[in-house]
Amino acid sequence: MEPYRIKAVEPIPTTTRQQRVSALDRVGYNLFGLRAEEVMIDLLTDSGTGALSAAQWAAGVAGDESYAGSRSFHRFREAVEELTSYPHILPVHQGRAAERVLFSALLAPGRITLSNTHFDTTRANVELSGCQARDLPCPRARNLHSPEPFKGDIDLDGLAAQLRGPDASRIALVIMTLTNNGEGGQPVSMDNLARASALCREHGVPLFLDAARFAENAYLVTQCESAYRGHSPTDVAREAFRLADGCLMSAKKDGIVHIGGFLGLRDEALARRCELTLIATEGFPTYGGLAGRDLEMITQGLTEALDPRYLRSRAEAAAHLAALCRGTGVRLVEPPGLHALYLDAGHLLPHIAPHRFPGHALACALYVEGGIRSVELGSLYLGKEDSNGDPVVSAPYELLRLALPRRTYTRTHLDHVGQSLEAVVRNKDRVPGYRIVEDAPLLRHFRARLEPV
Ligand code: F0G
Repeated sequence: MEPYRIKAVEPIPTTTRQQRVSALDRVGYNLFGLRAEEVMIDLLTDSGTGALSAAQWAAGVAGDESYAGSRSFHRFREAVEELTSYPHILPVHQGRAAERVLFSALLAPGRITLSNTHFDTTRANVELSGCQARDLPCPRARNLHSPEPFKGDIDLDGLAAQLRGPDASRIALVIMTLTNNGEGGQPVSMDNLARASALCREHGVPLFLDAARFAENAYLVTQCESAYRGHSPTDVAREAFRLADGCLMSAKKDGIVHIGGFLGLRDEALARRCELTLIATEGFPTYGGLAGRDLEMITQGLTEALDPRYLRSRAEAAAHLAALCRGTGVRLVEPPGLHALYLDAGHLLPHIAPHRFPGHALACALYVEGGIRSVELGSLYLGKEDSNGDPVVSAPYELLRLALPRRTYTRTHLDHVGQSLEAVVRNKDRVPGYRIVEDAPLLRHFRARLEPV
């Protein structure tokens, strides 16, 4: 059972099918355009959508709002250094700001970054720096439905080949995303991380963790990697941070806060360079775009996120929803992780071609059916069409992500999701595809307008 009870509640809006149909039409069939009160169960993201604990609220009230030298910053800095071992901790307003600040100091046009899989903002920030982001997911990740663990690993042979290959001198850094959000939320094993770390050290290339879901990754390591059975998630997380030269953190995930993040660095000279961008674009280094209360809430949230009872109940909630989805005949990326389920929309809706966006079609159908908001991870996100709408690039898979906000929804909410999915599956042949009528040059899935075809 959940190791907490509920103390503050927020009403869930009720909408009719007709209201949802017209809302969808109004926003150009892009769920990012909906108003929150048009959504009943919001599984768009697990980012910044978790419930704060009483201890976090209390810590927030005690926050010190001094512009410089805030007490809250020093508590935060010490707690984060204790966890990560990085002596230089720069607070930022969220994960992508950490990316921008780090890349301003480490990247120059023409350089290359390698990753198990770059998250979309990470890739966008690399590309905005005039650089190239190369993903090296392990070959096992290609088999979406196999139950083997750690399909979030980096391809070590691919990494070695890149580090020794003709472009080696242009490789600026390696980023390990824990868990691997772009590859179905699959975890990274400590064995893989240690080997990647050794390769990076051998070649003198810095290794950074994208640590947004470091606690969930650590929990899955304690469950699935035999050398770590019986270890605590905290011990595993500590060891993971020690294998890298620094981290990029969106505290909106495993910090369980509504806003916040940080950059952790071992290298003092690099930290000084990052500070320049931080001051110019985020804020003075003792607040970095956050209020003192946010820093306090992160400090407390990082501890709560590592509680094994909380992590177990989160895994069980994901397993519960996974069982409901499988019961409808929908195939999932297996095994289910903790922060989200990824539904194989391409398999469910074979009558919709990739450039008609089956994942997005399923998202729209699920919204109309049950007021549930989710997000496509397929050709709307990764694909490209020519001016006639004909496909140029298609995504490798057509997925729909149901993200699970932390401590926010109960099992009955998840049951509603299962029932709505079942209703969609019953009429799946009638689900239409979509075409883009208004595009955007970067991260198009956020802003594109579409229409059913
Ligand atoms: N890295 C990973 C792995 C992420 O999942 C995210 C955000 C970020 C970096 C960027 O952090 O949002 O604080 O700027 N992921 C959210 C999601 C948005 O829905 O998966 P941010």
